[in-house]
Amino acid sequence: MAELMSGLKRTSYCAEITESMLGKEVTVTGWTNSWRNHGGLIFVDLRDRSGILQVVFDLSQVGEEGFAKAESIRSEYVLAVRGTLRKRDADRVNPKIKTGGMELLAKELRILSEAENPPFQVDEAASVNDATRLKYRYLELRTPRLQEILMLRSKVCHSARNYMDENGFIEIETPFLCRSTPEGARDYLVPSRVHKGEFYALPQSPQLYKQILMISGMDKYYQIAKCFRDEDLRADRQPEFTQIDLEMSFVSDQEDVMTLAEGMMRRVFKETKGIELPKKIRRMTYKEAMERFGSDKPDTRFGLELQDISDLVKGCGFQVFSGAIERGGSVRMINAKGFYKGGDQAILSRKDVDALLPFVKAYKAKGLAWIAVKEDGLQSPIVKFLGDELAAKIVERAKGEVGDIIFFGADSDDIVFASLGALRLKLARIGGLIPENSYDFLWVTEFPMFHWDEEEKRYVAEHHPFTMPLEEDLPLLDTDPTKVRSQAYDFVINGYEAGGGSVRIHSQEIQNKIFGLLGFSEEQIREKFGFFVTALKYGTPPHGGLAFGLDRLIMLLSGTEDIKDVIAFPKVQNASDLMSESPSPVEDKQLRELALRIDAPKTEK
Ligand code: AMO
Ligand code: AMP
Repeated sequence: MAELMSGLKRTSYCAEITESMLGKEVTVTGWTNSWRNHGGLIFVDLRDRSGILQVVFDLSQVGEEGFAKAESIRSEYVLAVRGTLRKRDADRVNPKIKTGGMELLAKELRILSEAENPPFQVDEAASVNDATRLKYRYLELRTPRLQEILMLRSKVCHSARNYMDENGFIEIETPFLCRSTPEGARDYLVPSRVHKGEFYALPQSPQLYKQILMISGMDKYYQIAKCFRDEDLRADRQPEFTQIDLEMSFVSDQEDVMTLAEGMMRRVFKETKGIELPKKIRRMTYKEAMERFGSDKPDTRFGLELQDISDLVKGCGFQVFSGAIERGGSVRMINAKGFYKGGDQAILSRKDVDALLPFVKAYKAKGLAWIAVKEDGLQSPIVKFLGDELAAKIVERAKGEVGDIIFFGADSDDIVFASLGALRLKLARIGGLIPENSYDFLWVTEFPMFHWDEEEKRYVAEHHPFTMPLEEDLPLLDTDPTKVRSQAYDFVINGYEAGGGSVRIHSQEIQNKIFGLLGFSEEQIREKFGFFVTALKYGTPPHGGLAFGLDRLIMLLSGTEDIKDVIAFPKVQNASDLMSESPSPVEDKQLRELALRIDAPKTEK
């Protein structure tokens, strides 16, 4: 039977007990991490969010009734214990825990709640499969690891809020029930009961609202905002996630926003982890990032840079290379330095090299040519096509030495960058080239405004349609839109896009022109963005902003590669929440009220 707390008050968290409290009476509360019965003595490791304290029940102290109660304690029982704090015997000190030199000699025990035998022991959660851990998320959340991450998350929010407040930003909430607008990811829709057949969309970001807040004269806005995107999940992507979102008026250029945003990161990293950001954060154009790293969010903590050899192999006899260039693509290479040393030292064996082929194929590469530099010459499936002379030139450009293996991609730039960019990361992992516990911060700038979408046969905005082109590129809007660069910038940490933003268009003419290029008719602009285009007409200050992905920041700060670890109640790959079992079917009555009928077979869970 569950007992009550009445008459007892917690005086300390378990692990906040200090030596100075020895000999004093304290009351602690928490969950039973483990228990051991040694005849006349029962030991319980009591856990709360601060950590663990050992409690001892001694028959001579708690009496027969108290001892019998202590004997009934099992894993995860919730207890309140009043007792006296004492030093542990020297041979029983546990140096692994903060309170390992002390224990609480119990005088009074209350079992506040019993617990069913848990599906896994909390301190063994790390070895339990995802499905079980997430179904019983509350048990997993009892682990110190997740509790620390959530406390860190809270600290980061606090630190960011203080910074924004000190810089004159006003926190303003924007709606969750919004108008569905095109572009970006797929919307989550919410049917309206009042307006049958009509839908709200959950916001993919507060983008339009925050711009309208600038038009409203709020001058500087921020919000820790939930965003919803119905897209395929990845290790760093959730369907609902959180942004630290900001927007500011009267910006002269992108530097204004970047400086402010950088300041926030400086503050957050310093306050929560004691990490100092470099005085000057590195800048790199999108073009440079792609050409050197094959990625617009390069991990710059290691080398393995890409090199272009299109000029060398143009018109050569190896059709795979020359053909790629004739079709407007390029041939690029990565020298995996020292990865192919013979014998035991080899990081990559011949078999490993072959196994990389399916890896790059996932990025649409058609093959993965390579040249290994060995004591007795070059080993390669392509030297016979290239000829010795050209092969030697290529190896020279790669600064190839004995023990190196050079990989090649020949295709459209998009495919070469995507496949070699991914290969670069994979090689760095295989070779252990990524320094642990290190951070590299980088701004990537001058993104292209649009890319051509082959499937949809139209231009698509690279960032979003409200991004201002670089002024010097404005004339290209009429001649060669794919060449137009934008005033957009991404903040990249260790190969993650931690944040991104842009200077916005504050001129209706340019905004309409961009919508036009994106293939929206006058009618569609009016229908989809009417409220926004109208607002632009009533006096719009120059403005710009940015949003940091809070979840990704916490991933980086806590060193996890799984975004689920930093969200209290995350969704799994197929977008469901295993704990609450959502999404779920609803009552027919609810559907009738919404005038909805389901036209799909029931899905098996
Ligand atoms: P963007 O779409 O680049 O910009 O998003 C900003 C940041 O949010 C994070 N992020 C995500 N995190 C987890 N799961 C996701 N599915 C996800 N999608 C994005 C990333 C990203 O850098 N309104 C603009 C910002 C602006 O222009 O001011 C926007 O939403 O870290
Ligand atoms: P093939 O002539 O198709 O036998 O290819 C010869 C070598 O070139 C093999 O090692 C292929 O993996 C490689 N290869 C083929 N296509 C490409 C490509 N598009 N990019 C890089 N390497 C390729």
